[in-house]
Amino acid sequence: MLAMDTTKKLSFTKFIANGDLVIVHERHDATKAVNVTDGSVLQNRFGVLKHSEWIKDISFVIMCLELVPGCLVLESGTGSGSLTTSLARAVAPTGHVHTFDFHEQRAASAREDFERTGVNSVVTVGVRDLQGLGFPDEFVGQADAVFLDLRQPWFAIPSAASTLKPDATLCSFSPCIEQVQRSCETLTEKLTDIRTFEVLLRTHEVREVKTNTVPGHGNISPMRLPRKRRQTTDGDIEQDEPSAVILTKPSGDNLNLN
Ligand SMILES: C[S@@+](CC[C@H](N)C(=O)[O-])C[C@H]1O[C@@H](n2cnc3c(N)ncnc32)[C@H](O)[C@@H]1O
Repeated sequence: MLAMDTTKKLSFTKFIANGDLVIVHERHDATKAVNVTDGSVLQNRFGVLKHSEWIKDISFVIMCLELVPGCLVLESGTGSGSLTTSLARAVAPTGHVHTFDFHEQRAASAREDFERTGVNSVVTVGVRDLQGLGFPDEFVGQADAVFLDLRQPWFAIPSAASTLKPDATLCSFSPCIEQVQRSCETLTEKLTDIRTFEVLLRTHEVREVKTNTVPGHGNISPMRLPRKRRQTTDGDIEQDEPSAVILTKPSGDNLNLN
C-alpha cells in the first residue's frame, strides 16, 4: 500500500495521512486506488485492512536492502510500480532505481504513474526479459541493491549477482516455498550470507483484568509471576485473593498478507 502525493511532487512525508490517495497493490493484476479516511477499512480476500495501518513487506525489504539516499538499485519486474515507488523514495534525491518488466504496457503504465507521483526523476523503466537476458551489462559491479519479484528468479540471479558492488545485497521475493528453495540453491553458488524470512504482522490485545480465572478465554492463561504461599499468624494458608493480571492474546486484527 503506497501513498501518492497528489501535488505531483516527490514527497518525503513519512506517514500516510487522512485524505491521501493510496494505491493498494494486492497482486500484479489487482490494484486499487483508495482515498484514506480515518476509521475506514478496506476489505479484500486478505481480510480487513484498517486505513490507519501500514503493510509490512515493503518496509522490511527496504530495511534489508539498507537503502539510503544515493544508492543505485536494480529491480525486476516492475509490475504496478508500487515497490519501485518506495525504493525511489528511499534513494532520492541523489540515487536511482532502474526497474525492468518484460510487459510493455505494464512498463508504460508504471512510467505514467511515476510521472504523476513525481518519482520519475529517480526512476528509469526498461522493457526487458530479465529471466532470459539478465540485467544490461552496463550495470555489472554498479548496484548497491537488487530486488527480484519474478516467477523464476533463479534464471535472473546469476546476472543480478554480477551487478552487485562488494557487500551489496540482493533480495528475491517469492510467495511459494518451492520458489524460495530453488532460488536459494542458485544464490549459494554466487553469494554468501543467504537468509530466508517470512514476514507476518501480528497484533496483540493486552489488558488488565481483576480475576483468578479469565472468563471467555478458554485455555489462555493470564500472565502471573510465581510467588511464595503466605501463612497467617494462626498457621492458616492464605487464600488467593482476586488480583490484577495482565492478559495478552492475539487480537482479531491479525493479518498475513503474503
Ligand atoms: C509480481 S509482479 C511484480 C510486482 C511489483 N513488485 C509491484 O510492486 O507491483 C511480477 C512482474 O514481473 C514481470 N515479469 C515476469 N516475468 C518477467 C521477465 N522474464 N522479465 C521481466 N519482467 C517479468 C511481470 O510482467 C510482472 O509485472
